[in-house]
Amino acid sequence: MTSTSVPVTPELHAYILEHCSPRDEVQRWLIERTAELGPISRFQIAPEQGILLTMLTRLTRAEVAVEIGTFTGYSSICIARGLADGGRLICCDISEDWTAIAREAWRRTGLADRMDLRIGQALDTVNALPQDEHIDFAFVDADKKPYWDYYSALITRTKPGGIIAFDNTFRNGDVVDSRRAEAGKNGDPDPQAIHEFNGRLVADERVEVVMLPIADGLTIAQKR
Ligand SMILES: C[S@@+](CC[C@H](N)C(=O)[O-])C[C@H]1O[C@@H](n2cnc3c(N)ncnc32)[C@H](O)[C@@H]1O
Repeated sequence: MTSTSVPVTPELHAYILEHCSPRDEVQRWLIERTAELGPISRFQIAPEQGILLTMLTRLTRAEVAVEIGTFTGYSSICIARGLADGGRLICCDISEDWTAIAREAWRRTGLADRMDLRIGQALDTVNALPQDEHIDFAFVDADKKPYWDYYSALITRTKPGGIIAFDNTFRNGDVVDSRRAEAGKNGDPDPQAIHEFNGRLVADERVEVVMLPIADGLTIAQKR
């Protein structure tokens, strides 16, 4: 361990949350509503990631943003809040049921007019977007095996200076151990795919890349 790599204990994580901007009423409602779904609620991003998404969206002055993996809507709210006036967020998901909760959250936040929900395979949705460089910000948080395909479809459509952020790039820490990475601790087949994705991304000269130890790993790639 070095002075720059302090393990995040549960106590330190609680301290971090106490010292990040607080969740508002709708976000707290959405966390509770999603928890009612049971263990699947772990799909929801961490609150501290949400604040970072808002900041990144705002910093890129995003007018066009894309989210791959909307679920019940927490990350979409955070991104939409950072959009420039008149901006829109294209939300990709395959689930009508989970995104029905997102729709309710959007209605409660007053952000519904910024949202463009597209139900279907996310890769088809992105490939159907115009081919020119028009995306300012994207967040990828869906099935893990196609991460490179999502990136490939997004990067050619992203403006220079635009950002693509990827969740779960630690895959529970399994990516550091090549044997565990083959199947993961619980037989999860995704760590190897994420490990390969991480290697390909950092070697891609179109982007500058930083991997942040926040939640299950958040990688940010900025197009040069
Ligand atoms: C981890 S959850 C996203 C969590 C969300 N970002 C949040 O903050 O609550 C992943 C989502 O991706 C969706 N998904 C999985 N595979 C997909 C695919 N091939 N195309 C579109 N959506 C997909 C799932 O339905 C699920 O809602």
